[in-house]
Amino acid sequence: MKGYEKYTPFGRITQITQREWPDKLIEKAPIWCSVDLRDGNQALIDPMNVDEKIRMFEELVRVGFKEIEVGFPSASETEYEYLRALIDRNLIPDGVTIQVLVQAREHLIRKTFEAIDGAKNVIVHFYNSTSTLQRKVVFHKDMDAITEIAVNGAKLIRELTEQMDTGHMNIRFEYSPESFSGTEPEFAVAICDAVAEAIGADEAHPIIFNLPSTVQLSTPNIFADQIEYFSKHIAHREAVILSVHPHNDRGTGVADAELALLAGADRIEGTLFGNGERTGNVDIVTLALNMFTQGVDPQLDFSDIKRTRRVYEQCTRMRVHERTPYAGDLVFTAFSGSHQDAIKKGTDYMAESHSDKWEVPYLPISPADVGREYEPIIRINSQSGKGGAAFIMQQMFGYYMPKDMHPEFGYYVKAAADAKGKELTPQEIFDIFDREYLHARSPYALGRHDLYNTNAADDDTSVTRFSGTVKCHNEEIRIEGEGNGPIDAFFDAMKKLNLPKFKFLNYHEHAIGSGADAKACAYVELLTPEGANVFGVGVHSNINVASIKAVVSAVNRALNRYNQ
Ligand code: KIV
Ligand code: ZN
Repeated sequence: MKGYEKYTPFGRITQITQREWPDKLIEKAPIWCSVDLRDGNQALIDPMNVDEKIRMFEELVRVGFKEIEVGFPSASETEYEYLRALIDRNLIPDGVTIQVLVQAREHLIRKTFEAIDGAKNVIVHFYNSTSTLQRKVVFHKDMDAITEIAVNGAKLIRELTEQMDTGHMNIRFEYSPESFSGTEPEFAVAICDAVAEAIGADEAHPIIFNLPSTVQLSTPNIFADQIEYFSKHIAHREAVILSVHPHNDRGTGVADAELALLAGADRIEGTLFGNGERTGNVDIVTLALNMFTQGVDPQLDFSDIKRTRRVYEQCTRMRVHERTPYAGDLVFTAFSGSHQDAIKKGTDYMAESHSDKWEVPYLPISPADVGREYEPIIRINSQSGKGGAAFIMQQMFGYYMPKDMHPEFGYYVKAAADAKGKELTPQEIFDIFDREYLHARSPYALGRHDLYNTNAADDDTSVTRFSGTVKCHNEEIRIEGEGNGPIDAFFDAMKKLNLPKFKFLNYHEHAIGSGADAKACAYVELLTPEGANVFGVGVHSNINVASIKAVVSAVNRALNRYNQ
């Protein structure tokens, strides 16, 4: 027998013929319930201590969760104490409902009711396992016996709620047929109907039925069928809030949750960044931001995702992977040349068109929407293209190189990345630019000089004169010239240097920075007698000086080619 032959395929277990979910879209946010402090916490190597749980709770509240499962207070003293701390220290805002988990067992339910005393809004969440496999190998019980456990739990919870002084408390109920994904759908419906009746659910007091893929067993379409079947067959749908609780064994927790919403789910239980048993619970950050990028308000605020991630990492001691959607270190970064080029074109287009729609290729969300606007979108290694280095110079250092210059600069950057064999930092890219263009001061360096305009007396023409020195190998040479602008005048003065015949091709300028510290940056493109295009760059607080420095930079770079 081959290894894979021992597994039974999970086929269609529901007789659902006219499924509606494939034609639907997600158009509104579900009710979110965070289970970070229970399902997430119970999966940690070192569970959170009380202070960490409080910090996490406060972050969940800040993000906007209105329902938060805070623990399993009958399971351990820490859990009990933590719940009491939340209630006794008044840490639960009025609009937030805490949820407590308990197995459908008498002594645990009684202890849970002691633990919640005094909380304003509580969901008592009880469960027992219902799947075919668990009935067979764990409980050795038939469907009736499993139903009896759930119904007895429901009756006791109803009784304890009636006995409790609930004048100042709002207690609601949730039941999970645990291992729902492996439960016959007809049985899941039957046991939930029995629970709804035992607990007295009605439209005004709906019960939450939470359907977990405790273990993911199928492709998401089959899970969606299971949810749609349940939603359509449960006896009193109006008395039910349909919740799902996907885990991620097959890596499709998000897909399960999204299809479940199409199939009729009203509510989702999950965790930040998908922490939880084994491969985790469904990642609510991804789900919420997926909705955001479809133009749907997720009703959760992840606009400061770095903060949420920091709290999560510090409290759980787990790490958010570099490729985690929206939050990973590398998810807004492109190394590949063609991607960098398209991103640059997209961001330039956004700036020029003032479009209020997000239209940048390769970036499904604006980094700014999750508080990541200052991170390098483009990073440079040996696979990067010319546009990438230009983008870094633009975004990080304020240099807007003319497009025709990108290939030339890209060539130096690529050579450096190849030589290093690793990613280049933005500073290393700037250093290449600085060395190659701004410090191209040999053989000629601009010395002291004057530039002045002489205006004709009777019309508005004027002549610019250059008079000054250039230094070449420690020799100071005095040159003078005139023309219709500073560059022209300087070219005229340079005739004395007997240089090869360079042709002036193009000129660009822009400001760097603003206010009193602003500088001018000039770019000059020359054509050498051999037909090569060479660029030079000059920066100075005076635009005329910046232009002349750009000419000197270009001339030196061209002359240095002869010496190579
Ligand atoms: O995954 C699961 O089935 C659970 C239940 C207790 C809801 O966590
Ligand atoms: Zn779970």
